[in-house]
Amino acid sequence: MLTALIVLAAGRGTRMNSDLPKVLHPLGGVPLLVHAVGSGRCLSPDRVVLVTGTGSDAVAKSAKALDPEIDIVIQTRQLGTGHAVLQAEAALKDFSGDAVVLYGDTPFIREGTLRRMKVAREAGHDIVVLGFESAKPGRYGRIVMDGGRLVRIVEFRDATETERTITLCNSGIVMADAERMFGLCRGLSNENAGGEYYLTDIVERARVRGLKVTAVICDERETLGVNTRAQLAHAEAVFQANARKGAMDSGVTMVAPDTVFLSYDTRLGPDCLLEPNVILGPGVTVEAHATIRAFSHLEGAHIGRGAVVGPFARLRPGTNLSSGAKVGNFVEIKNASLGEGAKAGHLAYVGDAQVGPDANIGAGTVTCNYNGVEKHRTEIGARAFIGSDTMLVAPVRVGDDAITASGSVITKDVPDGALAITRADQNIKPGATRRLLELYRRSRAKSGKP
Ligand code: UD1
Ligand code: CA
Repeated sequence: MLTALIVLAAGRGTRMNSDLPKVLHPLGGVPLLVHAVGSGRCLSPDRVVLVTGTGSDAVAKSAKALDPEIDIVIQTRQLGTGHAVLQAEAALKDFSGDAVVLYGDTPFIREGTLRRMKVAREAGHDIVVLGFESAKPGRYGRIVMDGGRLVRIVEFRDATETERTITLCNSGIVMADAERMFGLCRGLSNENAGGEYYLTDIVERARVRGLKVTAVICDERETLGVNTRAQLAHAEAVFQANARKGAMDSGVTMVAPDTVFLSYDTRLGPDCLLEPNVILGPGVTVEAHATIRAFSHLEGAHIGRGAVVGPFARLRPGTNLSSGAKVGNFVEIKNASLGEGAKAGHLAYVGDAQVGPDANIGAGTVTCNYNGVEKHRTEIGARAFIGSDTMLVAPVRVGDDAITASGSVITKDVPDGALAITRADQNIKPGATRRLLELYRRSRAKSGKP
């Protein structure tokens, strides 16, 4: 059976008080939206339709960047979840199979939960909703059961006092045959306390028609939604806790896990070690046995097997460290690769560069990659030795086994095996210190300053 995801994200997200649409706020370094679409990926969807509001070009752009195949549909007025689902109908007119409704602001639905819903569908239930038990059901819609049968879902605002005591809540996630779901949504009324077309009303309509409806139950924590910045911060804490635990379970050592921050797409190999206060932004892969030492900040970086980074290193997008490479304190690397066993031990900037295996980059080395207009590349050969405080004015190449003398400004290519030195000769003036100091003192006495 084919599957289509319908991701609802047209809500204004007013309570975020933000210029940024709610579903674009980052969680684990990527937009909230990516989490919702990502959880639905376990169903190997053939189609993904995102329902967004007017003016959300940014949402459309971000969704397209995630997957160019995503269909974007606009719900011009937010008339309710049932109305929102109907906006996807035209995009799915040639589609036959199951539709799964997800919320763009609900990032923690587990893959196993969606699979259990799928199993319930395959067992012959026409509509499968996702519910959860809550000790504090608040304003959630309530799932009304009668003798083990799902009768209807009632919104909090429309619920009777007795119904409000129900603790089985609606998550909002629904799975049904797409055509059937649209058919049921088409007949919805908005005569209710919210004046909205409630998707939840399809349950009762289905039951009246003799269709089989059931609820799959998940952990309440999966249904956590983001409506405010405080909830976003809470969601981040939950995300990080899950991500750290997942990493440790898979064989990563963390000395102080609470101080380590990971991203949605972080990949960590077994036996890598993350010291305290390490931040891994989006797009980081750390291979097995690598060590990221304290206070390092990495984004868009690939760290090879057994490499060592930090403490206090900054690796920016496009960094690629081969196995056994070493990057030490106060080194910044951007869009550059270091070959196997290459080292940049201290205080260096390596940008737009290729560094050969076993090359050594001395302290204070800078690749001068930007002339104010254009960026240029630096190539450093295998086993090259870049003396401390070398300025490499790109574009420039330092050959294999070449040496640059400390303090040199390298503006021309250095052939393989050559030494390049570009500094003034050292002059020695014996006994000059005393004469110099006398000169200074006399000059001060003349000036009359105390
Ligand atoms: C909905 C459910 C409720 C459930 C709760 C769980 C309905 C009628 N109610 O209520 O039973 O307990 O979620 O969180 O479905 N959206 C649109 N267009 C609209 C309206 C909403 O795209 O016109 C999107 C929102 O952006 C959001 C999602 O649908 O992602 C849910 O909408 P929201 O208004 O938060 O629904 P609730 O009232 O919380
Ligand atoms: Ca909500």
